[in-house]
Amino acid sequence: MAENFDVIVIGAGPGGYVCAIRAAQLGFKVACVEKRATLGGTCLNIGCIPSKALLQSSEDFDHAKHGLKDHGIAVGEVSIDIARMQARKAEVVGANTKGIEFLFKKNKVTWIKGAAAFTGPGAIEVAGQAYTAKHIIIATGSDSVPLKGVEVDEKRIVTSTGALELDKVPGHLVVIGGGVIGLELGSVWRRLGAEVTVVEFLERITPGLDGEISKTFQQMLAKQGFKFKLGHKVTSAKADAKGVTLTVEPAKGGAAEEIKADIVLLAIGRYAYTEGLNLAAAGVETDERGRIKAGKHFETNVPGIYAIGDVIAGPMLAHKAEEEGVALAERLAGQAGHVNYGAIPSVVYTWPEVAAVGATEEELKAAGVQYTVGKFPFMANGRARAMGCTDGFAKVLAEKGTDKLLGAHIIGPDAGTLIAELATALEFGASAEDVARVCHAHPTLNEVVKEAALAADGRAIHI
Ligand code: FAD
Ligand code: NAI
Repeated sequence: MAENFDVIVIGAGPGGYVCAIRAAQLGFKVACVEKRATLGGTCLNIGCIPSKALLQSSEDFDHAKHGLKDHGIAVGEVSIDIARMQARKAEVVGANTKGIEFLFKKNKVTWIKGAAAFTGPGAIEVAGQAYTAKHIIIATGSDSVPLKGVEVDEKRIVTSTGALELDKVPGHLVVIGGGVIGLELGSVWRRLGAEVTVVEFLERITPGLDGEISKTFQQMLAKQGFKFKLGHKVTSAKADAKGVTLTVEPAKGGAAEEIKADIVLLAIGRYAYTEGLNLAAAGVETDERGRIKAGKHFETNVPGIYAIGDVIAGPMLAHKAEEEGVALAERLAGQAGHVNYGAIPSVVYTWPEVAAVGATEEELKAAGVQYTVGKFPFMANGRARAMGCTDGFAKVLAEKGTDKLLGAHIIGPDAGTLIAELATALEFGASAEDVARVCHAHPTLNEVVKEAALAADGRAIHI
């Protein structure tokens, strides 16, 4: 006999667990199916949270080793205990995943443990038990894109999952893909002592970022010791007792060369994950990239089945998945849930951080939009000088004539926190002048944002 719920969510990542909690808050009888042993999905278990724990540990190590001397602080020999660092990361992850379990109990969301497979339009099966629901939400997330000739063993040839688990610092880490994962996890192991080489297919790193920001970012990483092989592709990686030998070729053709590595990190993107879901039984359609086809309100082609998060089109970001989860739950309850895709911030948690919201200059040019640029460097900010973190700048893009904010890009200390103000401004349809007129506390890094907004009208004060 099938057990019935109002809402069943498949997958307990940031899309699924948030959707389940919001639906329960709105009075639905909700179950969430998760096949992993812990809740929280990619983000909490093998993504955002463990990577940020290691980024913090490695940044603290780097700062103790190189950043304190300038302040007159002597600390003697600085060393790193990798086992302890990894144990701390596991504690951080554990506290977060247990936290979701607590929230499920508090909101009376039933956790169905196991893998869900559709048996029909409103019906699934988990571990031999049948379940039905009026609304079924697919939130099964994503997985690492494989590469022909590069077989992942998660020991020497790793995805992000293996790169988060290394038990010693590699001598030479080769990263395939100059995107967010490669640069964040490359930063972790470089700070701890690895030599890091990034092989990137395109002639630039971080293709989605504003071109000027991306160029500055690459220069800063190169100064830190990152080596880049742009415009190159890896055609094979062979592991033996001594390490890994990679064959690398120019992307546009040319002579191949060999590179030796101790560890290879494959990070060339992620794909929508629907394996084992038996979508065919329900008749749910996917697009040419395997993503579930979802409409404006997350509806699939099958009435009563919806999809959110990494498994549908759009940026693969935890907060995008969360927003979609909330909006969908509210729509199911007859409310006006909505996601503004034009105001979703993105952050790269390297040093310095890189953050963006809204349009890049390249996008505005391609769309033929006339715009003004306001820029301000951290070098001219008193707080950044006091912190000893003067690299980078903030850039504000506003529509010519109306001054409406169209995009904002920051590379510098705490950029990920600073971007929130500009995401709020964009969401509220503010002008650059609106941001510039707001009183910003002194001395704070936020003054860089204010000055960049002033600069859009040619009236920055401190430069
Ligand atoms: P997921 O988090 O992938 O969750 C899907 C869940 O569904 C999984 O737990 C899976 O086990 C479960 N599942 C799948 N199929 C079934 C089934 N048939 N039955 C039951 N359960 C199933 N994003 C950010 O915004 N900020 C970051 O700093 C950031 N850092 C990242 C670092 C790394 C190393 C990685 C890999 C990703 C990072 N991301 C980050 C991306 C972020 O993790 C994803 O965008 C986010 O997790 C997507 O959420 P989701 O709910 O769509 O899917
Ligand atoms: P990505 O899309 O950010 O970068 C992949 C890079 O690999 C691109 O620069 C691409 O040009 C390059 N590439 C593709 N094929 C290649 C090949 N054959 N050889 C060499 N280079 C190749 O993907 P990544 O870094 O794997 O991250 C996946 C997703 O996870 C991101 O899209 C992001 O949304 C999410 N993520 C977000 C984080 C954050 O918000 N801070 C942190 C980590 C991941």
